[in-house]
Amino acid sequence: MKITLVKKIKEDGKECKKCLQVTERLRAGDELRFIDKIVYADMRDPDSVGLRLAKEHNIDIAPFFIVENEGTASIYKTYMELKRKVLNKGKEPEKKKTSKDFDIERLNNEFEAKTPQELLEWGLKEFHPCIALAWSGAEDVAVVDMLVKINPKARIFTLDTGRLNPETYDLIDRVRERYGIDIEVIFPDAAEVEKMVREHGVNLFYQSVENRKLCCNIRKVQPLKRMLSTLDAWITGLRRDQAVTRTVLKKIEVDENFGGIIKLNPLADWSHKDVWDYIHKNNVPYNELHDRGYPSIGCAPCTRSVKPGEDIRAGRWWWESPEGRECGLHVKPR
Ligand code: ADX
Ligand code: SF4
Repeated sequence: MKITLVKKIKEDGKECKKCLQVTERLRAGDELRFIDKIVYADMRDPDSVGLRLAKEHNIDIAPFFIVENEGTASIYKTYMELKRKVLNKGKEPEKKKTSKDFDIERLNNEFEAKTPQELLEWGLKEFHPCIALAWSGAEDVAVVDMLVKINPKARIFTLDTGRLNPETYDLIDRVRERYGIDIEVIFPDAAEVEKMVREHGVNLFYQSVENRKLCCNIRKVQPLKRMLSTLDAWITGLRRDQAVTRTVLKKIEVDENFGGIIKLNPLADWSHKDVWDYIHKNNVPYNELHDRGYPSIGCAPCTRSVKPGEDIRAGRWWWESPEGRECGLHVKPR
């Protein structure tokens, strides 16, 4: 059997939104490996392979799948159809695990005294491949190192807000190369960013807390929501010592902000020093900004260096009061 995915390139040279979503869903389900070939229906080129195939099979939408089996070709017009009739054929649908399958309080009691690696091992055993680390490109790179050492296929994603520092992009590629792994880079919705920037300007976050939250919502929270909707659990690099807003952090949480998904915070009880001891001891590649006075790193325009002795998050949204300085990825429901 051979599966070809036909995607569309629009007149403006961009890949169509639905095609991007399909690729993301295949990747999230670890199903890209079943796709033998990806070809493009390029609206600017009538001779493109994808357009020729669309014509041949009398299809006027993209994306679509061609499944060739023993000399016959079948067309599947949606991911769900392909999944049901081809990828999952004969299989029971995979059971989604939810927080209701676990005694969270008991687990927290059990894991409070355990190492980050022990919690990660448990998380991977229970949820892989429906669990992934949200990696910010900062000192949470220690968790990348731990995860890859437990399972080189463990999933890691980063939210590319489009406003990250060059040093962060540089680290993402260094980490890919060092560990030989795939980092799932998640982008915000282009149309939403375009609308926001047109209405409020590119640097809207300095104008008001409301604008700052709008930007964080479009560039970080919505893409995270999209990613988490494909997972049963996620992992973060959150620590209790990072902020006044994080002192009561549990190692295992039910994340009501994102539909009750399980959230693992393996570094919850580690200090800033513990993380850096780990990074140095294991020779983990790290963001160059850390050596230039940035203990905490977010987006470039919203992060600055701090002076010795200043709070580690003093450089994040420095113009706002400390109690409200969360971007929406980790806000507790009230
Ligand atoms: S933030 O909410 O203030 O931006 P912070 O920078 O402290 O968060 O990071 C805490 C954790 O949130 C990180 O360890 C990571 O798990 C997650 N996180 C933050 N930013 C990103 C990002 N851009 N991509 C993926 N995960 C992120
Ligand atoms: Fe926008 Fe700043 Fe939030 Fe990044 S941290 S998403 S640039 S407001």
